Formats: sequence, structure tokens, C-alpha cells
Amino acid sequence: MKVDGKHFRTIWVKEGNDSVIQIIDQRHLAHKFVIEDLTTVDEVAIAIKDMHVRGAGLIGATAGYGMQVAAMNAPKDSVEDFMTSVKADGAKLIATRPTAVNLEWAVNRQLEAAEAAENSVEAKLKVIRDTAKEIADEDAEFCRRIGEHGCKIIEEISKKKNGETVNILTHCNAGWLAFVDYGTATSPIYAAFDKGIKVHVWVDETRPRNQGARLTAWEMVGHGVPHSVIADNVGGHLMQHGLVDMVITGTDRTTYTGDVGNKIGTYLKALAAKDNNVPFYVALPSSTFDWKMQDGVKEIPIEQRDATEVKYIRGLHDGEIKEVLLTPEKSNAANYAFDVTPARLIKGLITERGICEASAEGVLGLYPEKHK
Ligand code: MRU
Repeated sequence: MKVDGKHFRTIWVKEGNDSVIQIIDQRHLAHKFVIEDLTTVDEVAIAIKDMHVRGAGLIGATAGYGMQVAAMNAPKDSVEDFMTSVKADGAKLIATRPTAVNLEWAVNRQLEAAEAAENSVEAKLKVIRDTAKEIADEDAEFCRRIGEHGCKIIEEISKKKNGETVNILTHCNAGWLAFVDYGTATSPIYAAFDKGIKVHVWVDETRPRNQGARLTAWEMVGHGVPHSVIADNVGGHLMQHGLVDMVITGTDRTTYTGDVGNKIGTYLKALAAKDNNVPFYVALPSSTFDWKMQDGVKEIPIEQRDATEVKYIRGLHDGEIKEVLLTPEKSNAANYAFDVTPARLIKGLITERGICEASAEGVLGLYPEKHK
């Protein structure tokens, strides 16, 4: 997507120096646009863990490129030493964040590709570099297709409303910043807006790290999409008063049975949507499906992050990004980063292959090759 008229992805290989991976350091948004260089696996691991990059698809793409960095820095004397080093780095990357399945998926895809390649360091290195690019390109393309499919739903609602504005609520940031390009929840919104359909987005602020207020709102400003940032507790009230036509969120891990792990607070929005007959959609590329898990509430690992993220809040003051204490210093805080929305609360899953019911039948109908 464009930043000040120039096209950016969220991650890329530095021009003229392919041992450097560049990312947008999202900790500084919405106020500063900072590009960071990553040259070691430790730097890549910190970038994921401390959320310089975040969001399921982008975490996956970063892990893909992280494996490229691992391979470039690995010992080259023997294939065994090379592979041992690359595998250890893969395990280090997987350990950074537990909920987004794309992380493990990308590392495993890289390892499988390397194992399958010809038995020389050069061949394995080449395959890892190619696969890193493939993962990133595929993520961008899948998100673009999600936009095409999801746009049809918005168009239908718009027709039913005789062209009046379609009000869409979204939670967290499942925008282009959470992927390589386009985003998932936002991709249908951008597609509809670009087609001239009137849309307005209710942007949940999404405490504690405010990915909605900082990142989704920044994206909406950048693309010119009408939007209002709301406190996390407002959605239910808006739905009761007919001010939300649909909800679209992203997801960090969705079981093949349709249970959706996503940013904390998503479940409450889904409950309110059900109670008010508001269709609740989840948009995801197939890399976010967990093909093994059946029961999301029981099985999806929920990341717990540092209490300081709840106790402190960051923002711009006198041109500088500052952090201030919100709570009494002595208060404990709990920081559950994700929750699970059961399939029964979800109207549909918007994927790169089309839209399906949130159920094993629906998901496996679109991805029959995953049938065991
Ligand atoms: O903790 P984050 O910012 O990595 O959370 C992930 C998310 O961006 C959301 O849960 C999002 O809705 C999932 S779609 C990438």
C-alpha cells in the first residue's frame, strides 16, 4: 500500500544488499515512519517478540526471511552443520510468540524446502532464499484475493441500503501492516472504497497496545477511508442502535473446525454481534488455518504478555513518543493477548479461495486437499 504516494510492503530485502532485511518498525506508528534493518537471527527474533513487526501474516513472512538470514549466517563447511544451525535458528524464531500459527508454518515450510533440496549448501541456501520470497509474495497475493471476495459482501449490503454508507466494525489491526500488503479484514474495505462504495469504519482502539487506534487508523488515513476510532467498549452500543452493518476481523490461528483465535476482545464483539443480528466475518489466508486443532477454546495457545503493556500507555507529547503510567504503581495487571471466538458466532470465513461457513465442512469444502 502507499505511504506518502510511495508503494511499500511491510518487509523486503534491501536493494543492493540481500543480507539485510528491512521492516517498518511499527512501534513508532502512528506518529513516526521508521525503517529498521535486520541482519541477524537474534535481531529478527527481537523484532517479532517485541512487536516491531506483528500480525499473523507479517510474523510468518518475517520468519520466512528470518530463515534466509539464518541460512546466510550458518556455517557452510558441511551440509550437516549448515542444517543443524538453520534448524536451531528456526526453533529460536518459533519460540518468540505462541499464538499466530503462521510463525511455525513459515519456519516449517522453509525447513521442508531445504530438506527436499539437492544435498549441497549452495542448493539449500538458494531454496531458502526463494522460499522466503515466495512466502511474502503469496501472502500479498492471498490478501488481494481476500479483498475481491470480501468486497462482494460489502457491495450486497450497500445495495440493500440503496447506496447508503456501509458501517463496518473492525478490531485490532488486520490491515496491510499485519501482513505483507493489503491486509485481511481491511482488504475488502479498500476494495469496496476503491470501487466507489460508501463505507465508514468503526476502529476499535484495541487495548492494551492500541493496534486499532495507532495502526488501523493510520492505514485508514493513508487510504482516505472515512473512519472513527472508538474505545473498546463501544461496539455493543453501536450494534444495538443499528450503527454497525457488519464486523470483519482478522485471526492469528483458526482451527479447521472454524474456531477463531484473535486479539483479546474479539469474542465480546462476536457475542454482541450475535445478539444484534450483525454478521460477523473473519478474513484469513490459508496459512492461518491450524489443520490439526479441533477445539479452539481448549487448544489454541494464548500468549500472556508483560503487565507493563496494560499499566502504561504510549503516545505523542511535544513531538516525542512518551510512555505514561495509567494505574497505581502497586497494582498488578494481567495481559492476555488473545481470545477465542467459537465458530457458532461467526457468519463466514473470507479466504483467498472464497467465502465459507465457519465449520469443518465449510473449511474442508474449500481446501479438500487437507481432508485426512
Ligand atoms: O499482537 P498482534 O498485534 O500481533 O496481534 C495480532 C493481530 O494483529 C490481530 O489479532 C489481528 O486481528 C489478527 S490478523 C493478523
